[in-house]
Amino acid sequence: MPMYSDDIIEEVRSRNDIVDVVSSYVQLKRSGSNYFGLCPFHNEKSPSFSVNRPKQMFYCFGCHKGGNVYTFLMEYNNWEFPEAIEELANRCGYQLPKREMSREEKLKQSKKVKLKNIMKDAANYYFSALHSNNGKMAMDYLTNNRGLDRDTIRGFALGYADGNWDSMYRFLKSKGYEDEIMKQSGLVVFHEKGPRDYFINRLIFPILDDKSKPIAFGGRVFDNSKPKYLNSNENEIFHKRNNFYGLDRAKRSRRGAYILCEGYMDVIALHRAGFDNAIAPLGTALTKEQVKKLKVDRDSKKVYICFDMDFAGTDAMQRAVGMLALCGVDAKVITLGEYKDPDEFIKANGSEAFEERINKAENSFIFSLKKLREEYNINDPEENNRFFRMMAGRLYVFPTEIERDNYVATLADEFNVSADSIRELMRDVAKNESELNRYKEGFFRGYTAKDFEEESETNDDIISEDMYENNSRRLSTAKMSKRGIMETEGILLTWLLDEPSLYNAISKYIDAEDFTEGVARDTAAKMFSAYEAGEEFQPAVLMNAFEDNEDHKRIAGILNTKIGELESNEDKEVLLKETLIKLKNEGLGRIDTSKPGAVKRIKKVKGDIRNIQSTRLL
Ligand code: CTP
Ligand code: MN
Repeated sequence: MPMYSDDIIEEVRSRNDIVDVVSSYVQLKRSGSNYFGLCPFHNEKSPSFSVNRPKQMFYCFGCHKGGNVYTFLMEYNNWEFPEAIEELANRCGYQLPKREMSREEKLKQSKKVKLKNIMKDAANYYFSALHSNNGKMAMDYLTNNRGLDRDTIRGFALGYADGNWDSMYRFLKSKGYEDEIMKQSGLVVFHEKGPRDYFINRLIFPILDDKSKPIAFGGRVFDNSKPKYLNSNENEIFHKRNNFYGLDRAKRSRRGAYILCEGYMDVIALHRAGFDNAIAPLGTALTKEQVKKLKVDRDSKKVYICFDMDFAGTDAMQRAVGMLALCGVDAKVITLGEYKDPDEFIKANGSEAFEERINKAENSFIFSLKKLREEYNINDPEENNRFFRMMAGRLYVFPTEIERDNYVATLADEFNVSADSIRELMRDVAKNESELNRYKEGFFRGYTAKDFEEESETNDDIISEDMYENNSRRLSTAKMSKRGIMETEGILLTWLLDEPSLYNAISKYIDAEDFTEGVARDTAAKMFSAYEAGEEFQPAVLMNAFEDNEDHKRIAGILNTKIGELESNEDKEVLLKETLIKLKNEGLGRIDTSKPGAVKRIKKVKGDIRNIQSTRLL
């Protein structure tokens, strides 16, 4: 399977200046050799996001995201590598080699393209209909009944399907679309009597993909008739279980969380109130695939669950809590008191009040149990037993004893029982496999954490998956727990990057082996060999060799270590000596004395340390 070679990856990278590319997403201001702006990856008031032209690297001193131009596009747009390279190739007019597609792939591909085109045309049609004379009633409904302004209507590209039975059909026909593709798009249904539009007299919500392109539609009635909502059917470009309404925008939100709510109008109301991180599943309970999507950046993002507190909403909440807990996402529940949903709450109380509800959001696991408790009669011992056994079973959602124990302590408090009795119950429940499975099944549908690990099955991009399988360019992933040594290594490498001439002064005393294994050592090795050869060291090129964006972040972190002001040459000499000696000493401690060559290495390192101490370096 052909793919892009390292040369092509590097060629495309080098033709796209990182400052130019990032500038089209983030407003940057020059300051010294760096450009600074507000970090698009976390919420901040003063800029700590830096882009460096000579290093062709970005790094945020606040949230520590970093990498090269590919990393930026992938992180910013939530893209896979192939999308990033295609974007950059287009940007600089580079012709990427075509990947040979099989006949079926070609057919499928062109069908996808056709579907995307038809959706785009349909979205435009619905949108203009809403803004036409004909759509006045719908527009009034949106502005008067739902309190939306023009900007919001435009932002979500809302539309109107009129009351005729074949307006869309005739429009698509006039655009040259064939019946077959209309049928597959779900926009037109072909009855024996003839074609009939799927959406008639409905408010239209385009459902957008990650790139904000329409892939399906939701349609709401204007009155109380049923069904209240219709979704266009699934096809090659639309899988309900894979998408969220609002995700394309929420992904770019600078709030360090997602707000998971129930429906279209909730998402729109929240965005309008400034909560641009709101998303909703598409009329189904949260699916495994959706949880996987949310899990992607769980390190930086929390999930706030804000479902209606009616029967359906509570049930959906329970399951969402279970699955999110299972895969280690930090989830909290927002409660709205007497209000039905966020839309109503915000209309009545405004966005500051909602912000307060966010701050008061409760731990989702505890909340879900408290809610469940209401369904059991506290005065009936039998019901109490059932409740506590279920609670004990659910606690096994947490993989480690420490986590479970933390919850046990809190739950004991909450429900006025002893922690020991909960633990005893847990042991007892665990003995009964079928009982335990029943609780798991009810809470997180019997999934295991592993189910959330594998690649998503229905990814739109066939190319991206092959690419990753075949192009395993990962070198190694470092576990750097000791901050002290990490910082020391960072200081030295950052310094050497900024002042390559320093290398000559110290090359006698150091080598890559002095660095901890992983990205630090790999970076040192690449840098030193470039300097040995009298070449420039380019961090952005090094990053090409790492598949994992986490590694890019680490490399960017290492190469952006703060050194502090060095006034005099003497200051420099002192810091350099200190840094080198610390590095060497750490390295000494890591040498495995049972390995051959250890004695020799120890001797060398000790000699280096003596020399560093006794020689003038600068
Ligand atoms: N839904 C659906 N089919 C229905 C009812 C609801 O698919 N017949 C889905 C929709 O995605 C909807 C969500 O469930 O957005 C939540 O339903 P509901 O609370 O009834 O709708 P709201 O989004 O609150 O819409 P509105 O405020 O317009 O009533
Ligand atoms: Mn609702």
